[in-house]
Amino acid sequence: MTSVPAAADPIVEVRDLVHTFGKDIRALDGVSLAFGAGMVYGLLGPNGAGKTTLIRVLATLLRPDSGSAHVAGVDVLRHPTRARTRIGLAGQFAAVDDYLTGRENVRMIGRLYGLSATESRRRADDILEGIGLSDAASRPVRTYSGGMRRRLDLAASLVGRPQVLFLDEPTTGIDPRNRADLWALIRQLVDDGTTVLLTTQYLEEADQLAERIGVIDHGRIISEGTSDELKDRLGGAMLELSVEPSHRDAAHRVLVDALGDEPVLDLDTDRYRVTARDGTRTLLTAVRALDAAGIEPDDVRLIKPTLDDVFLQLTDTDLQPEVST
Ligand SMILES: Nc1ncnc2c1ncn2[C@@H]1O[C@H](COP(=O)(O)OP(=O)(O)O)[C@@H](O)[C@H]1O
Ligand SMILES: [Mg+2]
Repeated sequence: MTSVPAAADPIVEVRDLVHTFGKDIRALDGVSLAFGAGMVYGLLGPNGAGKTTLIRVLATLLRPDSGSAHVAGVDVLRHPTRARTRIGLAGQFAAVDDYLTGRENVRMIGRLYGLSATESRRRADDILEGIGLSDAASRPVRTYSGGMRRRLDLAASLVGRPQVLFLDEPTTGIDPRNRADLWALIRQLVDDGTTVLLTTQYLEEADQLAERIGVIDHGRIISEGTSDELKDRLGGAMLELSVEPSHRDAAHRVLVDALGDEPVLDLDTDRYRVTARDGTRTLLTAVRALDAAGIEPDDVRLIKPTLDDVFLQLTDTDLQPEVST
């Protein structure tokens, strides 16, 4: 897929990235995507889809076979050193030193970034505070829980004040409560002006957190848009309503007239179902027509497909909400 989705002034822009491992593993098979600053962009895909490979290219850790990538106005392939000053990376496997305390870990990164001892101390304390690790800051990391390690890893990625933060499956394998904490943290970072590219295999995570979502599978972006756009693209929204039994025939005729579609009566639930091509507009049309005919439905609902449905249709892969790797 070569078309790049609209983004007025993209902060991340990737074109036709191809990367092959060995002879025949096309980890990236022509990936293009673009998005603007100040949002969470979710890259959603199953294991082996190419998410980490893409992140590694964007984070200057891997040179692709072909294609281009710009982050925060810098050509990542031409100017990796400059690109590195604008990005942060945190991942599924927290890269922190177990024998140092949380504070020491973050200070050390500060020194690596060339901050003075005083500056790195101040910066570490600020970040640890912001990330909710102040209380645990003096403990060695080996005593941290999985969720705390992820947060410390995130803290480390913030030392360089990145414009764009890459989070590679930041919540994979951690429990739901810690996941919710991390989501809140990520939202806070975005509110404070950071742009986040986050990979995930959790539909709910993409749905909750990401303003735009690229669905990736076998090294290709197979669909792209907001969560609602992805769902709408399935065209599967249904209008479901129930009316009193004595009104059924009349309601049926009214719905056919108004929507030009044959509603289906589910005898088990006593509900009509009809395709809602225009979503809420279809719902309004139906309700107005019924109202004009003097029929008041007992219950009206618009049933939208879930991201799960989108995924199933696109990939034949049933993503499990709680799979950990
Ligand atoms: N260093 C590597 N050497 C060989 N194959 C790799 C390497 N890294 C990733 N792959 C392969 O590339 C594909 C994409 O992997 P990856 O980007 O890690 O996917 P994801 O992060 O979405 O799970 C997979 O088939 C994986 O096995
Ligand atoms: Mg990965």
